[in-house]
Amino acid sequence: TGPEPATGAQTAARPMPMKRSCPFSAPEEFRALREEAPVTPVTFPDGAKGWVVSRYADVRAVLADPRFGANRRRMQTGGTAQDEAPQPPPRPGMFIMMDPPEHTRFRRLLTGQFTVRRMQKLAPAVERIVAEHLDAMAGAEGPVDLVQAFALPVPSLVICELLGVPYADREQFQETAGRLLRLDASPEEVLQTQKEMDQHIHQLAVAKRAHPTDDILSGLVQSEQLTDEEIAGVGALLLLAGHETTANMIALGTMCLLRNPGQLAALRADPDLMDGAIEELLRYLTIVQYGLRRTALEDVELDGHRIEAGATVVASLTSGNRDVTHFSGDPDALDVSRPYSPHLAFGHGVHQCIGQQLARVEMKAALSALIERFPTLRLAVPEDQVPMRDNMIVYGVHKLPVTW
Ligand code: HEM
Repeated sequence: TGPEPATGAQTAARPMPMKRSCPFSAPEEFRALREEAPVTPVTFPDGAKGWVVSRYADVRAVLADPRFGANRRRMQTGGTAQDEAPQPPPRPGMFIMMDPPEHTRFRRLLTGQFTVRRMQKLAPAVERIVAEHLDAMAGAEGPVDLVQAFALPVPSLVICELLGVPYADREQFQETAGRLLRLDASPEEVLQTQKEMDQHIHQLAVAKRAHPTDDILSGLVQSEQLTDEEIAGVGALLLLAGHETTANMIALGTMCLLRNPGQLAALRADPDLMDGAIEELLRYLTIVQYGLRRTALEDVELDGHRIEAGATVVASLTSGNRDVTHFSGDPDALDVSRPYSPHLAFGHGVHQCIGQQLARVEMKAALSALIERFPTLRLAVPEDQVPMRDNMIVYGVHKLPVTW
């Protein structure tokens, strides 16, 4: 049986995920949920039951609460409910699914690899990669698909450079990552895809052991604290987490600026607004669209509801990032001059995005250069013909035809 509210009125379970009424709005229902039922029972597409938390403060509280474990169940549209099945342990190295102290062991090692020195050293490479792709775009006849021409290759090449993955392997990585992020993938497909990616990175780790270079995989090998299997898991996680997310922020961020010409003009007139604009785009678009899933490790009381041990709880970043009790003015509007207030786009708590500084460097380099280089950039198709990533864990656009 699913978890039942312990007290208060019985609320009907809502189907998850909820639908957007417009590509740039959060699902409408969240507004009422934040006010009337901030902790609410939900049913997932496979029939599994759980809870969604929608207020900014509650999202942070859940993500900081050690009673909620990170070894979450996947959201899937196919197959049968996974509710009753025991949750298998995380794969070696997949520390995004681990709790302290095991998580801490990986996180410490990785923090030592994501040093300021390495990020600074990377900045010229990021700018060069951005410039090369914009040169190629400028040399082509419009329209082009901004995703393929720019938004995807840039972060993909950057993460490959950081990890020490050879350029020639990148297409395969992109393809594999795309398969892993599809909601309708069956558990068998997911397993098979994970295996392929692990094998590939495993081979790389072995090569780095023989010939170390100045990159993260070599650093992990040289730390002598991880097995090759764990290094493969960490590498797969970084690749997966590190390029689709940033790619979608670049493409969706561009589309969002194009449909808000006043905001774009302000940004062009005053490039100093760019840092704030990046934070505002992260908040407003919240591309980790279905929120962060956690598993209750014990019975937990939340807002008068008893969440039973084993239940899935979704912390909705999308909803929390539109919470009027935290963000001043109108949180449903894009405002590149909005005074900064911490947002949830990178999560919160011990798992908060380890790549966020890198993501900021990439977004800033990409968006600044793009709007400067192409002052007449515009969509090449009507907005409603842009295919949105509604069925993907990471929101964005599948394609963005632009011209100039
Ligand atoms: C974790 C978002 C870019 C690597 C996370 C989490 C979010 C997030 C919401 C928390 C997951 C959770 O608590 O379950 C984003 C967004 C990005 C981005 C929106 C781009 C705009 C990157 C990049 C990298 C990266 C560039 C790699 C270089 C990771 C890793 C974790 C993580 C390894 C897991 C951290 C842990 O469990 O301790 N990210 N991310 N991300 N991100 Fe990112």
